[in-house]
Order: sequence, then C-alpha cells, then structure tokens
Amino acid sequence: MFASFLFALLLSSSQAAPFLPTSSPLASTLSSLRGGAPLLQDSAFAELDEARDFLDECDGSCRAFPVTVSPLSPTGPTDRPMDASEWAGKNREALDKLLPQHGAVLLRGFRVPSEREFSEFVKALGYEEQPYLGGNAVRRVVADRVFTSNESPPSERIPFHHEMAQAPEFPSKVMFYCKEPSSEGGETPIVLSFEVCKVLREQFGELYERFKAEGVRYIRTMPEDDDAESALGRGWKSTYMVETREACEEEMRTAGTEWEWLENGDLKTTSKVLSAIRDVDGKEVFFNQVIAAFTGWNDKRNVSTKAIVFGESRETLPAAEMKKLIKKTDQLSVAFEWEQGDILVIDNRLAMHSRKPFVKPRVVLASLAR
Ligand SMILES: [Fe+2]
Repeated sequence: MFASFLFALLLSSSQAAPFLPTSSPLASTLSSLRGGAPLLQDSAFAELDEARDFLDECDGSCRAFPVTVSPLSPTGPTDRPMDASEWAGKNREALDKLLPQHGAVLLRGFRVPSEREFSEFVKALGYEEQPYLGGNAVRRVVADRVFTSNESPPSERIPFHHEMAQAPEFPSKVMFYCKEPSSEGGETPIVLSFEVCKVLREQFGELYERFKAEGVRYIRTMPEDDDAESALGRGWKSTYMVETREACEEEMRTAGTEWEWLENGDLKTTSKVLSAIRDVDGKEVFFNQVIAAFTGWNDKRNVSTKAIVFGESRETLPAAEMKKLIKKTDQLSVAFEWEQGDILVIDNRLAMHSRKPFVKPRVVLASLAR
C-alpha cells in the first residue's frame, strides 16, 4: 500500500535527503534528478511501495517506476487537497522531464472528484490531443478529451500493449484517471518496454533477430458497427472515422493496409509491415502490439495466434517462446491498487500498460496526447 509520507522540505530535488535509505525508489528518484532537475511546484515526490527501481543504461542512474508525486499539504486555504489542474498548470515542465526519465508518473492525493476535473487537468497540461483513429477498443466520450478506457468485459485481462502502436499515429502520452476503484482487481499493470527488449535480446536471441529484421503485420477482422461485447470490437466505421466503404478503402490505401470485404459485411485487414522494435531516446524498445495481439485478439471474428505474423515471411510467431517472453514481461511489471483521484501519466513510447480482471464497479477513464 501507499506509504503516505511526504517530504515537504524537498521542494527542490537538488536538496539533500540524508535520512533516506539510498536503495529506496524515492532516494533513487532524487539522486537521478540532481542537476538540471525539474523543480516541483507545491508538490513533492512520495513513496509507492509497489514501485520498482530500474537502471537507466544510458546514464547509469537508478530510477523509480513509476515515480509518484503528491501535493505538499492535504489541506490548503480552502481546506481541501490541491486541484490536479492547478498542479498541471504549474508543473508541466517538471512532468516533461520526469516522463522520459521514469516512463510513468503517478499523481496521488490531488483533488479529482470526477471526469470534469480530470478533463480540466488534461487541458491545463496543454498537450495536443491525439484522436483515437485506428484504435481497436470500443470507447465512449464522457468529457472534453476524456473517454472510457477499454470497455471489454471485467472478467477479461487486457494484455500488455503500447496504445495504438499499430496505428499510423500513436499518442506519446496515455493518461488514466481513477474515478472509482474496483473492490477487487482492476489494476493497470505497467512495464518498461526497454527492459522487455533487453530480456528479449539476451534470452530469446532468435526471436529478437526475427522481430528486428522482419517486423510484424497485424491481422484483424472488424464488424461494420461497434460490438461492445468484444475487447477489439471497434467497427470499421469508427476505427477509420468514415461512413462508406469507399472512404474506408481510401484510408486503408493511405495506411498501406491490405483488406478483404467478407460476405457478412465484416472487414478483414492486414497491416503493412510495422517495426516491432524501435529506438526511443537512444533506447531499444519493444514498441508494438505483439503481446496484445498474440494473446488478446480473440473474439468471434479473430483468433489471437493468427492475429500477428512476421512481416516478410508472414509466418506465425513461435508459441512456446512467446509464452516464456510474456511470463518474463509480467515479472518485470508493476501493479498497484488504484485509489480514487489517482492520475497515471504514461510515456507511451517507453512503457506498456495492461488491465487485470476486476469486480464491478470500476471507473478508470483515459485521455491521449500527441
Ligand atoms: Fe490501452
């Protein structure tokens, strides 16, 4: 659970923190930020027990994933926690530095009672909006720039993925807001993809080489209209934001996607070759939808093990190796229990997310930024 001690004296990360054990994630955060450090306004780093330390091989720093930030005081002049939007207005620069360093930032303890305040937070940050063009999941807009997270059945686990990694344009940031935690389960595990890539390179050499050399293609059959019963039930009209087959074909042609209209009106698509491994900020990252497609793209139209193939040969992926890689990915991941008002900002270029099964109710909303 969250240890709620805050370090009011640590207004600046350049200040010493002699009482912290040097191995703690918080100590790591502070040490990693000295020198050119972002100055948090009216807030401080906090401890999250579930966070894990990782070694940034680019500069040898040890960092916390995710890093947690909380308001300095639980009560202010108005006797209530600080609004998340107020924090956003003052700390955009700090967030811009923290995200590429840590991969994810958890904001905990701010006042975010509903989607309206989350929307204000998103707008106060001022990042450009990323439309959900080409995504798989059925979503509903609930406030300006805010929509439901994947509405797939609670009993299903959503496997690890980078948001819209298979789409021509993907968001650089994914923001989640917990309006109401579930009574059981429902965590949003996250994992650093350069750590996954390192394991892949060192322990699954042949698979790594094939991903790197060939890339992958995603194969998906979608209905005409949204099917809320399926985790990947987004229809082709909303996927491509079009009304007619002609307009849809135009979008697919532009994206280099191959297609086939099926007799029942469904559309079967095969993406162009997309890279499975990318370079981000000097790090080799397992940036793709490989795990999600291979394990999760199952419904009455799709079979997951056939939903992804190597790019050139179009051969299916080796099942036994993939199973082992997925297990390793789970071992590297971090899952924490949501608390009401939590906001998790993920650097979608560096970290994957997933969702554990849950017992209703659970309200976790999302926003995407370029
Ligand atoms: Fe997602």
